[in-house]
Amino acid sequence: MQTYDLIQKTRRKEPLTEAEICFLVDGFTKGVIPDYMMSAWMMAVCCQGLTTEETSALTLAMRDSGDCLDLSTVGGVTVDKHSTGGIGDKTTLLVAPIVAACGGYVPKMSGKGLGFTGGTIDKLESIPGFSVTLSEQEFLKQTREIGCAVISQSGNLTPADKKMYALRNLTATVDSIPLICASIMSKKLALGADCIVLDVKYGSGAFMKTAEDAAILAKQMVDVAKLAGKKCRAVITDMNAPLGCCVGNALEVEEVIHLLHGEEQNRVTELSLALAAQMLFLSGKGDIVQCYRMAEQALTSGEALVKFGQMVAAQGGDPHITDHTDLLPKAACEKIVTAPQSGYIRSIHSEEVGLACLELGAGRTADHPSIDYGAGVRFCCGVGDAIEADAPLCTVYGSTQELCDRAEKRLLDAIAIRKVPPQKTPLIHTIIG
Ligand code: URA
Repeated sequence: MQTYDLIQKTRRKEPLTEAEICFLVDGFTKGVIPDYMMSAWMMAVCCQGLTTEETSALTLAMRDSGDCLDLSTVGGVTVDKHSTGGIGDKTTLLVAPIVAACGGYVPKMSGKGLGFTGGTIDKLESIPGFSVTLSEQEFLKQTREIGCAVISQSGNLTPADKKMYALRNLTATVDSIPLICASIMSKKLALGADCIVLDVKYGSGAFMKTAEDAAILAKQMVDVAKLAGKKCRAVITDMNAPLGCCVGNALEVEEVIHLLHGEEQNRVTELSLALAAQMLFLSGKGDIVQCYRMAEQALTSGEALVKFGQMVAAQGGDPHITDHTDLLPKAACEKIVTAPQSGYIRSIHSEEVGLACLELGAGRTADHPSIDYGAGVRFCCGVGDAIEADAPLCTVYGSTQELCDRAEKRLLDAIAIRKVPPQKTPLIHTIIG
């Protein structure tokens, strides 16, 4: 078998066999197939796509490139949730304790921020003392005893994805549906949960810009999961505006704690309850309506907050944060951004908000590889709200006044205010699977 011939086949849209795909993934992981050949093959995939069978074979080959976890000692049906990445997306921090409070088991491996999108691991690391690296035994024990554990991707899980992802970032081959599907699903399958709920986002703050593309990606991921013997559903959701009122690590943890107190509900709780209901449904806890009610009850009764506190304590974090969010890191400077005119908030461009937060220090860049956990934005209003001229739109947090001034400019460009209110768009577009 020659790599050159396989590149040419994909370029001509001739399907590869399972053995040919394994040859490519195995050879690349072991360093036998050089970067330039894998890049050429991935570019051919970007241009010509793959069949569902090829995508499935690629996912399984990537899963088998490293270790797979054995979750059997958890002692119950395990359920994982994955979001394709967005701005202000803190749902894992609500969903994991909600499902655990309802008797489900959520062993979760999450990622760090990618580009302009935030990462669950960075948010958790803003909690003083919180450790995102547990041994496999500690991870399984905590899931068994508390019902949820969230750690960073570790060990020798899917080394093929690590190498391929790094190469895709350098060769403009990130936004290919089969490659995204195989990258995400290989990691989900290597973790080994029985059920998987996917939150596939579309809009200005997501990798998929349209609901149609998100639906194609979602269908491929659900098909691949089912072919691998998993129960799987995908929820397609709107990421045209940031999710919730805060973007930034400690700021988002603070928002989560506030919402777990059950005193207020917003689009974050709407999505978290919908995802938790799907996870409980796939775990066999009842029909979807019963599961939604269970999730809602866990949130409003404060049981999910208790679970969150138990998870924080088990992973070395300060559990007092559930009542004292002032223990979370704070940025040195802040600035209130006010509305330049009266009207209605027509839109808040998510990607721009993500980039503003990145510049404030809430994410990693080549120049600033470390994170300012207190940096970010807290919005006082959302899309559709009426606003008076000079009323506060949001507060920006950063380490210097200069950074806050720069973010103010960017945010004023990202927030569109118009005389007429916008049409409301639903947060949940469709459910697949
Ligand atoms: N997240 C991943 O893990 N992989 C992708 O390709 C895109 C998003």
